[in-house]
Amino acid sequence: TNRTFTMIKPDGVENGHIGGILNMITEGGFRIVAMKLTQLTVADAKAFYAVHAERPFYGELVEFMTRGPIVAAILEKENAVEDFRTLIGATNPANAAEGTIRKKYATSMGENAVHGSDSDENAAIESAFHFAGREMF
Ligand code: GTP
Ligand code: MG
Repeated sequence: TNRTFTMIKPDGVENGHIGGILNMITEGGFRIVAMKLTQLTVADAKAFYAVHAERPFYGELVEFMTRGPIVAAILEKENAVEDFRTLIGATNPANAAEGTIRKKYATSMGENAVHGSDSDENAAIESAFHFAGREMF
């Protein structure tokens, strides 16, 4: 539908890129519907990336995602999920297109600055995990 969920990951927060990333998001035509600074627990991160549980990088991924605060947000735009995946760029910043958030701010495949939901269904699940109805505008 017209909403997606994003996180500025711990590396993006640590490196001082909250402002730069939010600027690219709003310049990209997305409206911020909900937003907070929060931190994932190990259980949260394991559940969030459960699809990768059997992958060799899973432990490293969970450790990374829990090591500091993140910015969680819900974004609104027509075709939000697909358009936001385009704006963030490829998972590996070496393959990310010019003008994408990961091209500018990601440092590696693991530490890639930002998350974007991969489907409308997951966007709804991820949004509901982080935000109560009265926190969405
Ligand atoms: P997310 O928006 O975070 O879900 O990224 P994505 O959808 O572009 O990639 P995917 O869901 O396939 O992988 C989730 C996350 O796992 C990635 O963003 C990376 O941080 C991490 N990841 C994926 N593949 C690798 C890998 O080969 N090595 C390492 N270290 N991390 C990986
Ligand atoms: Mg993904």
